[in-house]
Amino acid sequence: MPKAGVWGIGSYVPEQVVTNTDFEKTLDTTDEWIRTRTGIEERRFAGDDVKTSDMAFSAAKEALTMAEVAAEDIDMIIVATVTPDMPFPSTSTLIQERLGATNAAAMDVSAACAGFMYGMITGQQFIETGAYQHILVVGVEKLSTVTNMNDRNTAVLFGDGAGAVVLGPVSEDKGILAFELGADGRGAMHIKLEEDYLEMNGREVFKFAVRQMGESCLHVIEKAGLTKEDVDFLVPHQANIRIMEASRERLGLPVEKMAKSVQKYGNTSSASIPMALVDELKNGKVKDGDVIVLVGFGSGLVWGAVALVWGK
Ligand code: ACO
Repeated sequence: MPKAGVWGIGSYVPEQVVTNTDFEKTLDTTDEWIRTRTGIEERRFAGDDVKTSDMAFSAAKEALTMAEVAAEDIDMIIVATVTPDMPFPSTSTLIQERLGATNAAAMDVSAACAGFMYGMITGQQFIETGAYQHILVVGVEKLSTVTNMNDRNTAVLFGDGAGAVVLGPVSEDKGILAFELGADGRGAMHIKLEEDYLEMNGREVFKFAVRQMGESCLHVIEKAGLTKEDVDFLVPHQANIRIMEASRERLGLPVEKMAKSVQKYGNTSSASIPMALVDELKNGKVKDGDVIVLVGFGSGLVWGAVALVWGK
């Protein structure tokens, strides 16, 4: 059975920077509150002329270039998003056409901030069965369009962006070692998009996230036949620095072994894990042969985690 791993990765970061101080002008909030409660210092908003599919396309192009895979050789495109250009057609079909990925099946996945994990793990299955060779997985959000900018409880938390990976078969000592996916619909109403805007019971989500992120990490490490000491790097969903720190501490990892981009991008939902990973690769923090744990959670409530060895 072939192992599935990451051949290439890319991201798209919108140009417009919105700082905490910018929010001080319009909301009853402070830079100090936002930093200490969330770790966020600024976030990026995509302009009116940049759609979700545009961001997905840019990230996908970068991932394909790194993977050295031609668009016609992609067998499947999976786009994780809760903020598509429109409910249908899917964002995956929109980028299929733009990329020229004429031989690819295409579908979207809705699993909020765990969307990238759901997409990646779905792609893994097709590669491990030998059915497909190259799968493009994109996490992309334009959360600024569903955030009520007059609600201080949510306005300061979210940002826009995209990240993408190309998955393919890798050598036996590389690639995905273990995964976990889960859902608990009892908490479905804690984060929801009803009518125009996202609403969130932040405290409940916080408690769930702290527990679930740590547990999922430990589960995939065990399923992979590893121990905490084997983990070189953790890439948690970038929702809130306090939640991320709780997962890191649960694994006993030092600060420098955790991806951290929440301070610059805010919570970009399904885009956050690949966006963070791209930055840490550029920083030289992730190297060939490293054992990495990726973990996300989100509205649903849903979660997903993967333990993998980086490289082809
Ligand atoms: N500025 C100033 N005060 C604020 C702000 C703000 N921006 N936002 C909330 N407050 C106030 C609240 O009104 C509250 O005031 P009160 O006590 O008078 O009612 C007070 O701060 C404390 O509120 P808490 O909710 O207790 O603050 P907490 O420390 O829990 O932080 C936060 C709130 C940041 C939302 C936190 O609960 C959190 O991160 N939750 C998880 C959210 C998350 O991770 N979501 C990800 C999933 S999203 C998705 O799937 C799309």
